[in-house]
Amino acid sequence: MSTYKEKIDINRLPAHVAIIMDGNGRWAKEKGYDRIFGHQNGVTSVREVTEAAAELGIKYLTLYAFSTENWGRPKAEVDALMELLVDTIEKETPTLNKNKVRLLAIGDMSRLPDAALKKLERCIDQTSQNSGLSLVLALSYSARWELTNAIKKISEDVVAGIVKTDQINDLLVSEYLTTVGIPDPDLLIRTSGESRISNFLLWQIAYTELYFTQTHWPDFRKENFYEAICEFQHRERRFGK
Ligand code: IPE
Ligand code: IPE
Ligand code: MG
Repeated sequence: MSTYKEKIDINRLPAHVAIIMDGNGRWAKEKGYDRIFGHQNGVTSVREVTEAAAELGIKYLTLYAFSTENWGRPKAEVDALMELLVDTIEKETPTLNKNKVRLLAIGDMSRLPDAALKKLERCIDQTSQNSGLSLVLALSYSARWELTNAIKKISEDVVAGIVKTDQINDLLVSEYLTTVGIPDPDLLIRTSGESRISNFLLWQIAYTELYFTQTHWPDFRKENFYEAICEFQHRERRFGK
């Protein structure tokens, strides 16, 4: 059986793949279930894609798990998502370690419930020495929140005399973002058919290749991930040159 995996050129892998994991609710509704059932099934896809990325040797995988706007969903759904999140992180920590995966998180963590934050920090701490894939969870994240925060911090440093106005350039701005030290995504995948960014990594995706698929997130498997990488490897990136 010919698979997309065999078609991947291992020497031209994207260093950083970011994913907007969308369509859990629709997937569940289509099956006659509650939206939360969709979120529960999305965990399998997270596991699959993380494993696929680690096996290929991709260095960074960023998963958009919860946006700042998602706080506006019904309380029962938000609570279920938070619980699912911390339970999964706790349960998966040994597997992450086994696969040398390092967990990182970006977003406004001050809005997370205490228990969730503690478990998240524990996993980040326990996987911090791993040298394989960096798995970046975008949690309570939005790009406008991140950029607004960066502007505030830069302004404070200008006022304090730490930064001069004429030192503010592309590189300096990047250093004030939550993604400091992480290369910009080469490939951004969004599942479930919507062709929009929904406030994700606006600064970082300036030259990212965008890939949209109809597949709902809970149906997304390793083969779907390999297919996206194959498509990426057929794109010609010009960076304006
Ligand atoms: C993605 O699925 C998960 C989160 C945004 C937390 P959705 O919950 O957005 O599912 P749809 O897009 O409504 O189907
Ligand atoms: C984007 O999906 C956020 C995440 C996947 C975490 P949404 O479902 O929240 O975005 P919209 O509402 O379709 O733009
Ligand atoms: Mg959605």
